[in-house]
Amino acid sequence: MRHSYAAVYLLALASLVHAEEKPLAAPVLPEAPAKSARGLTVTFTAAGKTDTRSARLMTLFVPKGEPVTPFLPAGPFTAKWEGEINSSLRAQYTFHAEVRGSFRLSVNGAVLLETVPGNQLQTISKALQLNKGATKIVAEYSSDGSGDAAIQFKWSSKEFPIEPVPPTVFTHDINAKALREGLRLREGRELFASLRCAACHGDPALIPPRGEGMPELAHDAPVFDELGAKYRETWLAHWINDPHSIRPHSLMPRVFSANPGQVDQRAADLAAFFASTGKADETEISPDLAPLGGALFANLGCIACHTPPEYAEKDEHDRTPLSHLKAKWQPQALRNYLKDPAKNYAWTHMPNSRLTNDEAERLAAFLLAGNQREFPATPKGDAAQGAQLLVSSGCLNCHAGMPPTTQPPLVATLKNSWIKGCMAPTAAARGTAPDFNFTPQQRDALLAFGSTGFGSLKQDTKAEFAERQVTNMRCIACHARDGKSSTWAELESDMGPLQAAAPAEEGEGHPVAGTAVPMLTWFGEKLQTPWMENFIAGNGKYKPRPWIIARMPGFPAVSKGIAEGLAHQHGLPAAPELELPVDKEKAENGSKLISENGGFNCTTCHGVGDRPPTAVFEAPGINLAYSPERLRKGYYHRWVMHPLRIDPESKMPRFADDEGKTPLTDYYDGNAHDQFEAIWQYLRTQKK
Ligand code: HEC
Ligand code: HEC
Ligand code: HEC
Ligand code: HEC
Ligand code: HEC
Repeated sequence: MRHSYAAVYLLALASLVHAEEKPLAAPVLPEAPAKSARGLTVTFTAAGKTDTRSARLMTLFVPKGEPVTPFLPAGPFTAKWEGEINSSLRAQYTFHAEVRGSFRLSVNGAVLLETVPGNQLQTISKALQLNKGATKIVAEYSSDGSGDAAIQFKWSSKEFPIEPVPPTVFTHDINAKALREGLRLREGRELFASLRCAACHGDPALIPPRGEGMPELAHDAPVFDELGAKYRETWLAHWINDPHSIRPHSLMPRVFSANPGQVDQRAADLAAFFASTGKADETEISPDLAPLGGALFANLGCIACHTPPEYAEKDEHDRTPLSHLKAKWQPQALRNYLKDPAKNYAWTHMPNSRLTNDEAERLAAFLLAGNQREFPATPKGDAAQGAQLLVSSGCLNCHAGMPPTTQPPLVATLKNSWIKGCMAPTAAARGTAPDFNFTPQQRDALLAFGSTGFGSLKQDTKAEFAERQVTNMRCIACHARDGKSSTWAELESDMGPLQAAAPAEEGEGHPVAGTAVPMLTWFGEKLQTPWMENFIAGNGKYKPRPWIIARMPGFPAVSKGIAEGLAHQHGLPAAPELELPVDKEKAENGSKLISENGGFNCTTCHGVGDRPPTAVFEAPGINLAYSPERLRKGYYHRWVMHPLRIDPESKMPRFADDEGKTPLTDYYDGNAHDQFEAIWQYLRTQKK
């Protein structure tokens, strides 16, 4: 398959070369055999245009006046989900749709659920027998644009109460052409923004000002803050000369790309200039601290995103290498960087692990120890030349937000076929333009995106922003999601030696991985959006799970967009949920229901406010006084009614039976929902 892809690519390229003056067109996508993966295909139509992407769930939330995808105008639209629903056995299910708009679900070609037309809130449900294996489903939704568009798709059965149909039971063909086309456009659009094409090729008519439209257009690059105090000159020359040879996924292009295989004199000049700025603090950090740092590297999850500093081979998890740190950093500067990685670079992908001074020092000792990559001497640089190059080479367009001056401007480049300059596949054709190290697929994606014009940069959807950033920021390095385990959980065996090398009391604890870190799958439905935003930013005032060493690092640049987007992905508005004042009578009953005296004894595992849990830490739970500000009420009920439906490995017992009853018949006739509601009301009266 590879072969024929390359052939098609070359052919397409050859035809482009002959048609240079032709306006930009998307390269033809070769056919590919059907391939099944999790999730559904969803096709949107608005104002006569269509756009296809994949979806984790059959849900949607689009606030009034916002577009349903970046590629379609706001207003009335339709959505069509296609794929299969998979059942592990032959069983009876009831399907439920809660929609604002009109909706129709077909199973194996026959209509099962259908609402009346209109944009009012409607709930419909119907039972159906599903055979073991995959069953084809198609769902169609339409919104007239007069209000928020919303849909949630749920199911229930004799064994489990009503819940959203989970992402793990859907499959779809990821090679379907329309889907690949939609995904390719998205890849191109994202490359355009994150590689900062507009920093040099400006066009005020096409590119919205910073802070408007697609959020990634605001991507900054590190501020040059006395680099001589932080980095070593030889390393700087190698980096400027060829960033991708040091960090494969660097977003910085190779600016001086004419002489592959050697360090360009201009890179050396720039390095000499930087080395002359700032005064280095060369105080060493004691290497004796390295083993302690190694244990932290494992226990805080650095290992989930980075290969250890002594490791220089290719990594199956595609982690960011650190094997050049000794050649790059002054020790104290590295320690300071670890404490605040976003200080000079807001959009960095490196999160803030909220380290203490001791932790940062230990980690720095570990990161600078051992055998690391060496960099050969570079030509002697001229600092004065370097200072001039800094302005003339376009460095400051990215690094200081200088206004774009590169000719031709964007709109002009679209008139020919984007095979020249930065987009050229060979060094010769590239000329003086920077080298972004594109793969053929990335180049195609940019071409496809360019052929749509740049209208989609002026708008965005939060649901798609969240999806992009969950990938970019590597949330799944630490969090399992949609049935896929985290990278961290797969690295248990690499962590052992690092933990074992540390003195006993420091290497022990309940460090991590697997089940201890909550799964990302339901965050959008589980957590109150403001709480989630604050927590993802790294501003959480408390640690929900104090019994694990692992902690959630902060991602302040993307926290708001991710939190709101995850809510929308689950069909929910991002606004805080409002509630009536506490029901005092229920709260009274709740205080008894939670207790060990005639209640469920929730307090064995859960602390409540300043009261710690009563039993030995067998299955510690989160302090329940936090529940009302952390959790959405709908999720709270779903969880307490049947914890194992959400997390099959949870140690929290199920208190209700299949009929929704509990043995505590003194309260609400044993109605579990009413009892849990009483507990909720009680928890609302508790001090956090
Ligand atoms: C650091 C500044 C810089 C950035 C960032 C940049 N370019 Fe360029 N681009 C240039 C320079 C310099 C040229 C060569 C202009 C010349 O030949 O006079 C060029 C040329 C081009 C050309 C050829 C224009 C023509 O018609 O001759 C295209 C197309 C292009 N760039 C696309 C892109 C895309 C797409 C991106 C983002 C992935 C990008 N550029 C990012 C500096 C930049
Ligand atoms: C298209 C935008 C762009 C251009 C043009 C660019 N850079 Fe960068 N540069 C970046 C980004 C983004 C990073 C952050 C590292 C990464 O993404 O791997 C970076 C990182 C760096 C760093 C490391 C800084 C630090 O504190 O981590 C140096 C030094 C640097 N660039 C120098 C230069 C020089 C010198 C030039 C001009 C010859 C240049 N850059 C041109 C985007 C750019
Ligand atoms: C979610 C993924 C993630 C986690 C977790 C993470 N990092 Fe990073 N880190 C990155 C990325 C990506 C970069 C590349 C820089 C950028 O994007 O700005 C980076 C950069 C770095 C750098 C600078 C590399 C250089 O070339 O100078 C160091 C040092 C570092 N990380 C150490 C750590 C340590 C120590 C931890 C644990 C406390 C950690 N990282 C946790 C993703 C991560
Ligand atoms: C270095 C590992 C790591 C990375 C990377 C990471 N997380 Fe976390 N996250 C954790 C840990 C550990 C917790 C549990 C913290 C606790 O309860 O004390 C957590 C908790 C959370 C919570 C709270 C969930 C709950 O039920 O309490 C949210 C929300 C969250 N993470 C979102 C994200 C998002 C979004 C990303 C990517 C932008 C991300 N995380 C990346 C380790 C990580
Ligand atoms: C045997 C121990 C145990 C008992 C008894 C128990 N739970 Fe839990 N509970 C847990 C565990 C473990 C978790 C999951 C913690 C995590 O996400 O890391 C949990 C989670 C929860 C959560 C989600 C908390 C959050 O903030 O994310 C709620 C709400 C909850 N339990 C309520 C209750 C109630 C109400 C009772 C009594 C009716 C109860 N639990 C009894 C162990 C227990």
